[in-house]
Amino acid sequence: MTSVFLLLLLLSISSPVAHARYQEQTHDHAAATSSPKSRAVCLGHRVSIPFSSGTWLPLNHRHGPCSPLPSSERVPSSPAAAQALRRGELRTDAIGRGTQGGTTQHDDVTIPTSFKNTSLHTLQYVVTVGLGTPAINQTVYIDTGSDLSWVQCRPCPVPPCHAQKGAMFDPSRSATYSPFSCDSAACHGLDDFIGCNGSLCQYGILYGDNSSDNGTYSADKLTLTPGYAIDGFRFGCTHVENDSVAQSTDDLTDGLLGLSASNVSLVSQMGAKAFSYCLPPTEGHSGFLRLGVPHVSASRFVVTPMILYENDSKFYVRLEGIAVNGRRLPVLLEAFGDVDYMLDSGTIYTHLPPAAYRALRDAFTKEMRMYPRAPPTQGFDTCFDLGDGGGDVKLPSVALVFDRNVTVELDPSGIILDGCLAFMPTTDQIHPIIGNVQQRTFEVLYDVGGFAVGFRSGAC
Ligand SMILES: *[C@@H]1O[C@H](CO)[C@@H](O)[C@H](O)[C@H]1NC(C)=O
Ligand SMILES: *[C@@H]1O[C@H](CO)[C@@H](O)[C@H](O)[C@H]1NC(C)=O
Ligand SMILES: *[C@@H]1O[C@H](CO)[C@@H](O)[C@H](O)[C@H]1NC(C)=O
Ligand SMILES: *[C@@H]1O[C@H](CO)[C@@H](O)[C@H](O)[C@H]1NC(C)=O
Ligand SMILES: *[C@@H]1O[C@H](CO)[C@@H](O)[C@H](O)[C@H]1NC(C)=O
Ligand SMILES: *[C@@H]1O[C@H](CO)[C@@H](O)[C@H](O)[C@H]1NC(C)=O
Ligand SMILES: *[C@@H]1O[C@H](CO)[C@@H](O)[C@H](O)[C@H]1NC(C)=O
Ligand SMILES: *[C@@H]1O[C@H](CO)[C@@H](O)[C@H](O)[C@H]1NC(C)=O
Repeated sequence: MTSVFLLLLLLSISSPVAHARYQEQTHDHAAATSSPKSRAVCLGHRVSIPFSSGTWLPLNHRHGPCSPLPSSERVPSSPAAAQALRRGELRTDAIGRGTQGGTTQHDDVTIPTSFKNTSLHTLQYVVTVGLGTPAINQTVYIDTGSDLSWVQCRPCPVPPCHAQKGAMFDPSRSATYSPFSCDSAACHGLDDFIGCNGSLCQYGILYGDNSSDNGTYSADKLTLTPGYAIDGFRFGCTHVENDSVAQSTDDLTDGLLGLSASNVSLVSQMGAKAFSYCLPPTEGHSGFLRLGVPHVSASRFVVTPMILYENDSKFYVRLEGIAVNGRRLPVLLEAFGDVDYMLDSGTIYTHLPPAAYRALRDAFTKEMRMYPRAPPTQGFDTCFDLGDGGGDVKLPSVALVFDRNVTVELDPSGIILDGCLAFMPTTDQIHPIIGNVQQRTFEVLYDVGGFAVGFRSGAC
């Protein structure tokens, strides 16, 4: 309890907008609403993190002050545009799961992660890793929806790679770099194989927004933390980028770490059976990415079954209901669907089947009647005038109820964004997804070996 108050106190001191207070009896939350003004200061971690283990990486929002990348992105006109920026792969071919040789079982790794900026399409998370020998720092997205990791590589002439903050990886300057030849077993097993350039194995990834990354399938040393490196990490060295979005939005990231269940993902290559991350509540805080088992006891997680398919490398869970202020939404289980929800680090909002979305919207609006409604904005239809941010904002509690009656009460930072309820209905294009806003402050555990997904509240 003390630590919760301390945290909230710290938050309210350090943030111009978040004057937070828990009112547990009434289920009301105080909300750290996103401010139109950006906080310029990196507040670091809210919770002390043990650094004893080698496999822990800090994680930050892409454009926040904790990110190594500067921020000059333009805000897209709508969340649809924001979603288009999702780097989800558009692949239909079959994907087999399973771990590959090359690396042995390992100790666990944790990496800090960070935010970049509150603007809508930048709600993505990055970590900094070292690639090659000597190691060059690369700041990359983490994405549970992507298989192959890639970084932009020299040369990248036409169509050119997007501008990036750090040095672009130059394979000719790395003593440990080696491209895969077309006749290698690795190349034969690559789902993203598109052909050969001379003798070199070429990969191509087409994303949902029709952007693509192409280049040479390669291996090099990946340094996750000063004490932990993977030799022969397989990744895509991008020499051709066709990404008008990244180019026009000043993306500046160096690449992407694929964390899916595919056999080329970072996690599979490490032989890890589990990983977890904590996405911080604001861009001014840091979270972490941990590869391997969590550093806290399993009993501190609530656990729901993980759904995996042989022909799909993404992670799914079952959402069976939502409770607002402790009351389940009055909709049938079918409204949530006999559907799988993709659990995703790379999609921003949670997308619910329309009937479930409408029930949530109605229940939430009822509990928010003390606030005047604000006009719909950026595609959200449930917005409120929460004042100038000078006072407390009381939000009803919102809990996601997963299979096995696993109840995950969202952090206030995971409920509203810029005054709007941060959920959306699904569309023909966007299927049910548990988005990254709702995951904020939880350590989300992907226990791939145990076919389970865990949530631990207050982890960052
Ligand atoms: C966040 O992004 C906006 C819009 O691109 C920009 O004006 C602002 O300066 C950025 N904030 C920070 C802290 O960089
Ligand atoms: C990875 O999976 C693909 C099928 O999607 C398979 O062809 C390939 O052999 C696998 N690679 C390894 C090393 O297991
Ligand atoms: C690389 O990144 C790490 C972690 O963010 C940092 O400590 C180190 O100073 C960076 N190295 C260089 C050469 O920038
Ligand atoms: C093939 O490789 C050559 C030499 O590295 C390069 O100049 C050329 O652009 C590559 N072609 C494609 C289609 O990537
Ligand atoms: C890049 O890869 C995508 C996906 O396979 C493919 O559609 C596209 O034609 C490739 N582009 C180039 C220049 O090779
Ligand atoms: C991507 O390209 C295909 C074929 O050109 C087109 O049918 C599709 O609508 C495009 N998708 C987007 C999001 O632009
Ligand atoms: C995987 O297979 C199932 C059942 O055959 C099918 O419904 C689903 O669409 C497939 N998924 C993908 C990504 O191909
Ligand atoms: C589910 O959990 C809630 C409390 O979190 C409890 O009130 C309810 O009875 C449980 N339902 C079932 C079916 O176990």
